[in-house]
Amino acid sequence: MSTSPHTSLFNTTYPIIMAPMFLISNAAMVKAALDHGITGAIPALNYRTDEEFRTAIDEIRAHTDKAFGINLIVNKSNVKYKKQLQTCIEKRVDFIITSLGSPEECINAAKPLGIKVFCDVIDLKYALKVQALGADAVIAVNAEAGGHCGNMSGKDLIPMLVEALDIPVISAGGVSESADVKKALALGAAAVSVGTVFIASDESPVSSDYKQALVDYSAKDIVLTTKMSGSHLTVINTPYVQSIGTEASWLERLMKRNKWLKKYIKMFIALRGMKAIENAANKATYKTVWVAGPSIEGVHSIDPVGAIADRLTSDL
Ligand SMILES: Cc1cc2nc3c(=O)[nH]c(=O)nc-3n(C[C@H](O)[C@H](O)[C@H](O)COP(=O)(O)O)c2cc1C
Repeated sequence: MSTSPHTSLFNTTYPIIMAPMFLISNAAMVKAALDHGITGAIPALNYRTDEEFRTAIDEIRAHTDKAFGINLIVNKSNVKYKKQLQTCIEKRVDFIITSLGSPEECINAAKPLGIKVFCDVIDLKYALKVQALGADAVIAVNAEAGGHCGNMSGKDLIPMLVEALDIPVISAGGVSESADVKKALALGAAAVSVGTVFIASDESPVSSDYKQALVDYSAKDIVLTTKMSGSHLTVINTPYVQSIGTEASWLERLMKRNKWLKKYIKMFIALRGMKAIENAANKATYKTVWVAGPSIEGVHSIDPVGAIADRLTSDL
């Protein structure tokens, strides 16, 4: 099993991050992941208040001294960004995963204190940019990933980035079993970041209908929609998703072409979409917009996080 360079990034037994997932990742999941030799990260946005956010970090720290991370949305849409960054720094979380925007401020603030910064990227240009800014690693989000996926397959993206970068490449997308982890490592990845399969875990806070959907549906049922956040998002093609379609409406598209309206319409689509996803995740509603990636193919039951982690690491 490869022990380097992931051990210098987050010092776990196995080179796996339980990926940050909006509305899903929580302290219970991360504690279980850490107990089973992998690390985990939580989006700061999963907490309504700074107080709740701090409590979650303290809860994990009280449980273990193993390394875990926080995901920050670093663009302007996240009005809580500065406060969240300050809390990460004050609490000395072990690593920060940045998404959607320039990580410069985050890197400058976190690195001098020994907090590692891993940046989501989907192509070489951006990967080179974050490397130049001082990122400790890139998270290469490929076309098989759940959530806001990339557009290159892991098979193409990982070797390209490994070849061009000096910093480690963590691969995100399409991992549901141990063999998938091995494939990514063989392509040169230092570690993998795994999200979808952990939605169907006992500790995950979403409704049992959402978890069961991961068991019942398969990879062929995953579609890309721009209806929810304005950019491509992977969702399960439920009857509700089929009924609303996967393309933003003509009016939204028209308004996005207008320079002045663009910013507001984008924000409006994102807020409305996030609300719909939040409602569907937490309660029984016919408006089922369930975010998940094609790796639901490997989900056959709802299990504890520890059992899922054990499956991923069984053959490493
Ligand atoms: C339901 C869901 C929510 C997600 N939310 C976030 C998020 O808030 N921030 C982020 O950086 N990535 C998010 N992602 C992407 C994951 O961090 C990770 O890149 C992805 O799940 C890896 O692909 P996989 O689902 O095939 O394992 C999300 C993915 C899913 C499935």
